[in-house]
Amino acid sequence: MKTLAGMIKETATFLNERLQYKAETAIILGSGLGELADRIDDKQEIPYTDIPNFMPSTVEGHSGKLLCGKLGGTAVLCMQGRYHYYEGYSTKQATFPIRVFKELGVKTLLLSNAAGAMNPDFNVGDLMIIRDHIYLIPDHPLRGSNDNSLGVRFLDMGNAYDAGLREKAKKIAARNGFEVKEGVYVATQGPTYETPAEYRYFRTIGGDAVGMSTAPEVIVARHAGLRVFAMSIITDVWREGGNFSISHEEVQAQAAAAQPKMTALFTDLIH
Ligand code: HPA
Repeated sequence: MKTLAGMIKETATFLNERLQYKAETAIILGSGLGELADRIDDKQEIPYTDIPNFMPSTVEGHSGKLLCGKLGGTAVLCMQGRYHYYEGYSTKQATFPIRVFKELGVKTLLLSNAAGAMNPDFNVGDLMIIRDHIYLIPDHPLRGSNDNSLGVRFLDMGNAYDAGLREKAKKIAARNGFEVKEGVYVATQGPTYETPAEYRYFRTIGGDAVGMSTAPEVIVARHAGLRVFAMSIITDVWREGGNFSISHEEVQAQAAAAQPKMTALFTDLIH
């Protein structure tokens, strides 16, 4: 059986031979958040199905390509479409690309996602800088034997979301004249959206927004020593006593509407 380190080397070698730029920043785009990809100049696209050890992405709205090009003049790698636990992948499989990014010389990882808010001060269309997370997915990407060459056995998660990048993001938003929220992201297994009792519970335990991704990737990025910035687009808000319903189509549409702000913020953030 191939070891994780062996698979990382194999994939990194394949990509090193093909990628036109050496990037220090990688970006993972969430559902309905592909617009940033259109802003990448001189873009090279490699479908996941062509990359050894990458799995196909199975979700509608996640197209499944690795992009390499320049965003606002800076070399970036970008995953258009990510892997989720609910697709049937383990969180170790879902986070494999981040291991490869590290091997390729990436230093900073930016992530975006669509999320539902249970903080009543939030509105549909808001951007939320993730300050911290609560991990409730019933599988952990670092479970099993630890390869010390990849990272430590017991990982400190006290400062997972880089404070400097969060401050910089707030300044960029202020300069561009839009508001950003900051909060705690609850990571759930999906694929169901929450029952009212679950939204209430997540609020009670300190969550501001909930979604089905990002936290496994952040754990692995921190394990690999990358700097992390993550942002949620609030696509729905649950409120006590309200009549709540949500669909994937609505999530996609709301995410798409908030994209220009997110694209502007990410583009400035990497300079
Ligand atoms: N819950 C979980 N995931 C989501 C939601 C939600 O309300 N909205 C967008 N992704």
